[in-house]
Amino acid sequence: MRAFRFGSAEHKTLFCREFVDTFRPYEVRDIQWPELTADDLARLRALPFWDEAVSSERTAGARVQAMADAERDPVLREAIAMQGYEESRHAALLESMLAHYEIASPDEPGERPRDPEWGFLRMGYGECFDSFFAFGLFRLAADSGIFPRPLVERFDGVMQEEARHILFFANWVAYRGLQLPFHGKARFLVRRGLGVSLQALGRIRTALQLRDAEAGDDFTMQVPESIGEVTLRTLAETCLRENERRLGLYDPRLLRPRLVPRLVRQVLRVMPGGKNAAASG
Ligand SMILES: [Fe+2]
Ligand SMILES: [Fe+2]
Repeated sequence: MRAFRFGSAEHKTLFCREFVDTFRPYEVRDIQWPELTADDLARLRALPFWDEAVSSERTAGARVQAMADAERDPVLREAIAMQGYEESRHAALLESMLAHYEIASPDEPGERPRDPEWGFLRMGYGECFDSFFAFGLFRLAADSGIFPRPLVERFDGVMQEEARHILFFANWVAYRGLQLPFHGKARFLVRRGLGVSLQALGRIRTALQLRDAEAGDDFTMQVPESIGEVTLRTLAETCLRENERRLGLYDPRLLRPRLVPRLVRQVLRVMPGGKNAAASG
């Protein structure tokens, strides 16, 4: 394997090529949705996040496409446009599934940002947070049967595409930060810091709301009865493992998103119930 400098033309070629070469072609209209048992159907309909999922995939599609339209470098543009296509395909896949199983989907279209770079930065950091937790939650939901088994494989593909997106994003951010001339670089670094902080704040707010909803029970999260109680430790460890497994499939020379796994590892170190906590007390 040849070495290269981050921010170089080789780096750009490598992360764009890795993205394009791992594209999985399929058309939503060709999908045959499986027959579900009454129980599976009830569980699918009870999942609380379908509206949110469809809206955020539509928004992602619009934001990524806006960035692709603004990008002048053909190599970057091809990869970003492909991501935009995948996000829109996620939205279409969800819409098709919801229509098939007679679950309502929201009406609003995805909104195109006025500033493509800012839209892409915010969305990219948002995906780094959300995908990390989605990988673990998906694993737990699939293993426990909360997520209907006949649909697991189809949505596993969606999760893997999200892993490609955050891999691409981590490398794009580094590349762009190193590529820009001095004044552009400072502006980009500020926006980058702001983008990641805003996304982190949003996630902390959600976590606090979750915790308030579960008042008095700080370290466990109630999930539907069939998997009983999943401790935050199990969730965190599952997320870390799944994140490594999914991102481990790609060229090891590329950068990985580091912030969220690092934060979660630190939280695990101080959380009750681990090996260290047991030994000390
Ligand atoms: Fe997506
Ligand atoms: Fe994505």
